[in-house]
Amino acid sequence: MSFFRSSNRLAAQFKLRCLLGQDFNNAINSSFLKSKTFSRGFVSLVKEMDQKTNSVSQNENLTTPTVQDQIDDYSKYILNTYSRPSTFIEQGKGCYVYDSNGKEYLDATGGIAVLALGHSNEGVARVISEQSRKLCHTSNLYFTKEVGELAKDIVEKTLLHYPQGTKGIYDKSPDSAPQVFFTNSGTESTEAAIKFARKYGKQLAESGKLAVGKSDPMLASDPNLKYHLHCFTGGFHGRSTGALALTANPKYQTPFTPLLPGVTTSKFNETREIDSFINERTCGVILEPIQGEGGITEATYEFLKAVRKRCDQVGAVLIYDEIQCGLGRTGKLWAHSNYPPDCSPDIVTMAKPLANGFPMGATMVSKQVAQCIGAGDHGTTFGGNPLGCAIGKFVFDQISDPQFLKNVSDNGAYFKNQLEKVVEPYTANGSASPVIEVRGRGLILGVEFKENPSSIVKEAMDNGLLLVSAGRNTVRFLPPLIITKDEIDICINLFSKTLAKVLPA
Ligand SMILES: Cc1ncc(COP(=O)(O)O)c(C=O)c1O
Repeated sequence: MSFFRSSNRLAAQFKLRCLLGQDFNNAINSSFLKSKTFSRGFVSLVKEMDQKTNSVSQNENLTTPTVQDQIDDYSKYILNTYSRPSTFIEQGKGCYVYDSNGKEYLDATGGIAVLALGHSNEGVARVISEQSRKLCHTSNLYFTKEVGELAKDIVEKTLLHYPQGTKGIYDKSPDSAPQVFFTNSGTESTEAAIKFARKYGKQLAESGKLAVGKSDPMLASDPNLKYHLHCFTGGFHGRSTGALALTANPKYQTPFTPLLPGVTTSKFNETREIDSFINERTCGVILEPIQGEGGITEATYEFLKAVRKRCDQVGAVLIYDEIQCGLGRTGKLWAHSNYPPDCSPDIVTMAKPLANGFPMGATMVSKQVAQCIGAGDHGTTFGGNPLGCAIGKFVFDQISDPQFLKNVSDNGAYFKNQLEKVVEPYTANGSASPVIEVRGRGLILGVEFKENPSSIVKEAMDNGLLLVSAGRNTVRFLPPLIITKDEIDICINLFSKTLAKVLPA
């Protein structure tokens, strides 16, 4: 027994003191401890105390639940929509998070593209603290400065970052700046876009400005028929029934059908099918310039240009879902800013990093679309509250800074290059190789594997690296945008170690 091995009298006294509390003082002063039989008596006392210790620690074992016990208990109360590893993430700082055992993880998920400025950002914490002492919420019945400042910032900086644009949200004619509707999530941003596209489409059909009637006489007599929406394979736009209807993935959709009617789907990056699917009844077309959940797939310029052209022909709005790929992630303010201006959108949806973890999203619409939306057409209790907007302004100002964007671009290029080097040995056997390719730009990167990469995600976590899968066989890297080259090197080492363990040599 450890206690007997220790001859340190002070340690013994300390242990007794802990066990006995006030009784210790009585015992230490007792004649028993001063008697000639002290040694024998001391030993028996200690034996007794150790028995007490054991029973105390056994009781402690009974009363202090393990992490797994706690997770099992909490799981009884949390709806089972996610399968999570058996640990609590307790803290985060910068690009790292720490679990309840104090284990450190490099967070290459960035909370799924949310933590642009990293975990526990001091500036964000300061804004939360100051604004929450000033004004958190008013409802949208009233104007607050915070909402105005963020909306103005998003619009002005967007126009600044894409000076060549002339269409849609980039229409530079007088009084034609786009406008913003704030939401609480990506899904709600999509939902708002659906409603705005429908209202715009119906009004356009009613106005007679749409060149309809020749190919679709029914639409000429019933403008309400212009409600159809078009989306693409591999896209992800959210989980509410409207947004889900645009997320053409049977795994997500099938249990919940019927969804929103009037939605058509064609193949992403395939221009041949566009004309037949997008027609005069289509009011909106939605796509991600870089598909995130779908597996980090970039739209080709030809594809975007063809979609834009077809939207113009049939009077449909082009909606870019930049919820995952936007707001600085590619090294430009918007993912679509990487393309020439002739494929610019009418609506842009955003969310995830907008307030660095505070739930916040927005739908930015061209003036043309904005003109058909009036008071009461759409609304939200929380969306655009002063607390969210104050945080959003702080985050947006940093993200839109040209030097910040350049760092993302440089570090993203370095990251991609390092990933390509790491996977090289796993691509050498052509179609028999376990790794297919590295994709993406900036800090939205993916490695596509031949097989499902869930064992890689798990092994990476064991090694202290958080990754998230995408599509069927892709692993995504969406780290905080503040990640440094040194941290990228650490990430690459951990990934390399993971591959070496999981993939056959
Ligand atoms: C491109 C895209 N659109 C929409 C959404 C839905 O956003 P949220 O989960 O905030 O509702 C996501 C979420 O991952 C997304 O990646």
